[in-house]
Amino acid sequence: IFAAVEMAPRDPILGLNEAFNADSRSTKVNLGVGVYFTDEGKIPLLGAVKAAEKARLEAAPARGYQPIEGLAAYNKAVAELLFGKDSALISEGKTITIEALGGTGALKVGADYLKRLNPAAKVYISDPSWENHRALFESAGFTVENYPYYDAATRGVNFAGMKACLASLPAGSIIVLHACCHNPTGADMTDAQWEEIVAVCQARGLVPFLDMAYQGFAEGIDADAVAVRAFSKSGLQFFISSSFSKSFSLYGERVGALTIVTASKEEAGRVMSQVKRVVRTNYSNPPTHGGAVVAAVLASAELRQQWEDELAGMRVRIREMRKALVEKLAERKVAQDFGFVMKQRGMFSYTGLSAEQVERMKTEFGVYAVSTGRICIAALNSKNIDYVADAIAAVLK
Ligand code: LMR
Repeated sequence: IFAAVEMAPRDPILGLNEAFNADSRSTKVNLGVGVYFTDEGKIPLLGAVKAAEKARLEAAPARGYQPIEGLAAYNKAVAELLFGKDSALISEGKTITIEALGGTGALKVGADYLKRLNPAAKVYISDPSWENHRALFESAGFTVENYPYYDAATRGVNFAGMKACLASLPAGSIIVLHACCHNPTGADMTDAQWEEIVAVCQARGLVPFLDMAYQGFAEGIDADAVAVRAFSKSGLQFFISSSFSKSFSLYGERVGALTIVTASKEEAGRVMSQVKRVVRTNYSNPPTHGGAVVAAVLASAELRQQWEDELAGMRVRIREMRKALVEKLAERKVAQDFGFVMKQRGMFSYTGLSAEQVERMKTEFGVYAVSTGRICIAALNSKNIDYVADAIAAVLK
């Protein structure tokens, strides 16, 4: 049965890890996958997480099944991070949240449910978008198309193009939006532009699906929720996938959530019953540990503060690395001004390097980046940044 099976290409992001791990050069640097490293080049175990894990281990909880939708305390905490503690949507019971296997798992449960709900709809993702968006919605059976997003000339958002495209789409079209820290470009919309996008979605009857993988990496928890809050006020029904991989540094625990805003509490109950069927026929119910840890941190005033401080620390270090990279490239007298790197938000920089230049960085220097020119600024540190700047400067010559 396998005789005719073709070799699939490596994943454009996680496949870089495989190639990086197989590289024997001691100077190699992995700027591919979106993972935050400390200045020592380590993935941090946050102090707030460590404290919550210690308490959990000491309590030695039994390992029973979770409810299909996951831990109630976790789901409540997720909704409050997204909508704010005093959100009317929450108190009116219009939202449902299920614990999912990371942001990717949340997107997939949402995609599978949307396919049952509206099989003929098309999905629109930003041009460019996170590599897995297209593959994931296509694997759920959708046709996926792009809406204009990035303007290479201004290194900002082609807002007019985006808005005009969305305004031309048929009702029911599913629009995947990056809620903050656009991946891969780091170019976000302004608050006023978000309001306009909400109005277009409303006028056209579009179905927004907000991907929120980096809450806290641009400005802070509430400031980064501006898109979610704008949609919340609109009365629209919409989807949100969220992830704690980055913000809690819990990548391998696969801690995410799917949240859906419905029109009423009664509707929310029916939607939840259907989403649970999607989960039950896929992975049955989520694992316990990661969600329990996040819930414990968010439920404790002290640990929550510690977490927010640690998150702010990550944010500040990324900004320092942006600044340092810009300076180091200027020192190397590259022709182009890299000042734009300072304006990009989140973990990544969309450098403008071509696929050929990225390939040269890999083969000549062992510096790994995504072929689109995306580099993970959060993987730079005081020890590798000169080497990376040398590599970039060399391939730009
Ligand atoms: C990334 O874009 O690098 C991250 O979101 C990790 C992933 O799953 O692709």
